[in-house]
Amino acid sequence: MTSSTSNPNYKIREANDQDLDAIMELENACFGNDAWDADTMHFEVVAHHTYYLAAFEGPTDQGKLIGFAGLSKIPGNDQADIQTIAVSQAARGQGIGKALMLELLKEARRLHTQEIFLEVRADNPAAQKLYLALGFEHIDTRKRYYQPDDVDAWVMRLQFAKTSIGREPVVLGIETSCDETGVGIVRGNTLLANIISSSMDEHARFGGVVPEIAARAHLEALKPTLDQALAKANLSLKDIDAIAVTNGPGLGGALMVGIGAAKALSVAIEKPIYAVNHLVGHVGVDILERGELQTPTVALLVSGGHTSLLLVRDLINDVELLGETIDDAAGEAFDKVARVLRLKYPGGPEIDKAAIGGDPKAIRFPRGLSLPKDMEKHRYDFSFSGLKTAVARWVEVAETKDEPINVADIAASFREAVADVLVTKAVNACLDHKVPRLLLGGGVVANKRLRELAQERCDAHGIELRIPALSLCTDNGAMIAALGAQLIMAGRAPSSLHFGSDSTLPVTTVQTL
Ligand code: KG4
Ligand code: ZN
Repeated sequence: MTSSTSNPNYKIREANDQDLDAIMELENACFGNDAWDADTMHFEVVAHHTYYLAAFEGPTDQGKLIGFAGLSKIPGNDQADIQTIAVSQAARGQGIGKALMLELLKEARRLHTQEIFLEVRADNPAAQKLYLALGFEHIDTRKRYYQPDDVDAWVMRLQFAKTSIGREPVVLGIETSCDETGVGIVRGNTLLANIISSSMDEHARFGGVVPEIAARAHLEALKPTLDQALAKANLSLKDIDAIAVTNGPGLGGALMVGIGAAKALSVAIEKPIYAVNHLVGHVGVDILERGELQTPTVALLVSGGHTSLLLVRDLINDVELLGETIDDAAGEAFDKVARVLRLKYPGGPEIDKAAIGGDPKAIRFPRGLSLPKDMEKHRYDFSFSGLKTAVARWVEVAETKDEPINVADIAASFREAVADVLVTKAVNACLDHKVPRLLLGGGVVANKRLRELAQERCDAHGIELRIPALSLCTDNGAMIAALGAQLIMAGRAPSSLHFGSDSTLPVTTVQTL
């Protein structure tokens, strides 16, 4: 298999014969008298049972070789070994070691590895910390293994699918971060049930989600939603291997309802609990349709509660927030503009309907944070409050002048402005980071023009566009269950029962321990 990861600072691809001289130079520089000889290295790099990667300085493999790493797995054996990993002294601290490890782990998973081992010097705490963070545990110490330095070796092991008792774990996911009560059930990467109960109608007369009403609605909906999900999956609570629950970001009170229920269930059925990040769940949901998440990917998440642009190099280990809205969420803008146009709540579908037959070029509404000066500081950030005000002003001026208001033109022009700015920034993120994939998530993905424009621009740039089914795009419990299952299958320890809700949980915290 060929794999490659890019970053503006370095490029990783599978190693080959031609890299050998540079690899040996780095091997000698890093390991001195412990270094392998060139013949051994050659044999290992080209062998069929190994997978070697090379990292280069700069955006292409034309740069200097600054790291390499290798994995060995005998076919038919479900164990693998990290044979070696080296990063040049000058290139340390840029995450290259982690990126190499993540690629090796991905390959190990692809080869259906159950356990993966490595050895690390007892006097190398930086490397140990990285391996521990990736889920390895210290299982043994080989005394005075590294000679002539007389240094011990730590033997470390990572077990994939540790708690799944030799099979894929059945995970129940609970989502209550906004106005959808979601309960989903998955078995490994397979969706078994996805039941959603929404309190949207109860918020309609307020024109937006009222946190207190949402929290109370979750409390009432949770039990019936759970029962329905179990019935749909044809399972009972005793069949569940673990519980996953959203603990942020979202509305504090609403999150607390789901967390309370999840903890109670975990204690009652004596099964582990995983507290997971809502936004990362939106990304992980792709696994339920495709069996895996292809990385790296840029993800654009747009709903009534969030507008975020993420760079995902690895779902559970490496998620970066590129940008987000500095004021209203995209869905909120639809809802507020709908109110200005005297349309119903939620505004998105109403504006889609109203825009039929309208001219998207009739009015040039502003594209937030898109001026050249903004494109430096806020290249991946969004702002929709100016747009909402511009629409309100337009209507107000027309009304004072007693001019007829063409709702179709306004709706189409407003929708065009939102879709344009969302897609422009998302495609820029893909191009800037040389990521050939864009994944969409969140309720606003239902928007027709957004889908159309995203497809057009992605096609023009050779970017693969992924849009999950709408029932998996809007907030749901299946995405939370799917993310929980990924953590379990990667050997992650469960969360303790002490976690709480975190309204502003950063995307870098995929799981709260
Ligand atoms: O993901 P979601 O169901 O959850 C919450 O944020 O609660 O997203 C709901 C949001 C609302 O703001 C709604 O107006 C927007 O998604 N939305 C749309 C469309 N359908 C729903 N926005 C634009 N166009 C649509 N067709
Ligand atoms: Zn969401």
